[in-house]
Amino acid sequence: MKTATLSVAAPYIIRQDYAAYTEEQHAVWAELVGRMMPEIEQHAAREYLEGFSIIGLQTDRLPDLKAISARLAPRTGWSSTPVSGFLPAPAFFEMLASRNFPTTTWLRSRESLEYTPAPDIFHDVFGHVPMHSHKVFADFLEHYGRVCAGISDAAVLEKLGRLFWYTVEFGVIRQDGEIKAYGSGLISSHGECRNVMVGNCAIHDFSLDEVLATKVKVDELHKLLFTVSSFDQVYEAMHEAERRAMSGRL
Ligand SMILES: [Fe+2]
Repeated sequence: MKTATLSVAAPYIIRQDYAAYTEEQHAVWAELVGRMMPEIEQHAAREYLEGFSIIGLQTDRLPDLKAISARLAPRTGWSSTPVSGFLPAPAFFEMLASRNFPTTTWLRSRESLEYTPAPDIFHDVFGHVPMHSHKVFADFLEHYGRVCAGISDAAVLEKLGRLFWYTVEFGVIRQDGEIKAYGSGLISSHGECRNVMVGNCAIHDFSLDEVLATKVKVDELHKLLFTVSSFDQVYEAMHEAERRAMSGRL
């Protein structure tokens, strides 16, 4: 973990007390993974699946963030860095800009397997972290943090938040003629993933203009998502969004 340079995010950094997880919590993790795995093997992007084995995720034990980060570091320099919970935007962006992914350490209970109002370690690690092993995606995510860290206009940040939402959280990619998921919100939610894969959600070809014009809705299953054809396309969209933001055209 390379957190020495963090300033606004520093108060939110914690230590993951791995030994404190109970057998019941490991069992809940195993159940969450077991429920999603058949769907993921069929519907996740190949880069996600490669990342899953690169970071050494275990299906029956909660992830040790230090071990995950040790496997990520030589690949892309990303760290899965434990935080106390929800981060204010400046702290979140500062962490992304330094390749520290803010990672919660708590796990949902057995009573709420399908849904948690706030991200937990299942969403953050199972959903997000495998993609951080992919070089282009890793570069994109750092760049996103760096650009947003330099912006204070709330309306501009809200627009950039839509780009994050429709890529990092709910992105899909076309591979071998099929729609595959790489967004963490699809990967970590049975209901969201199924909604897309059974065809209940329209899929448009990714266009930055349309993404920036599409409001984020958190209280219902998606009716529209956007497919890229490569992760270079995501990175290029970020550069275009940056150019527009810097020239007041976003
Ligand atoms: Fe997320």
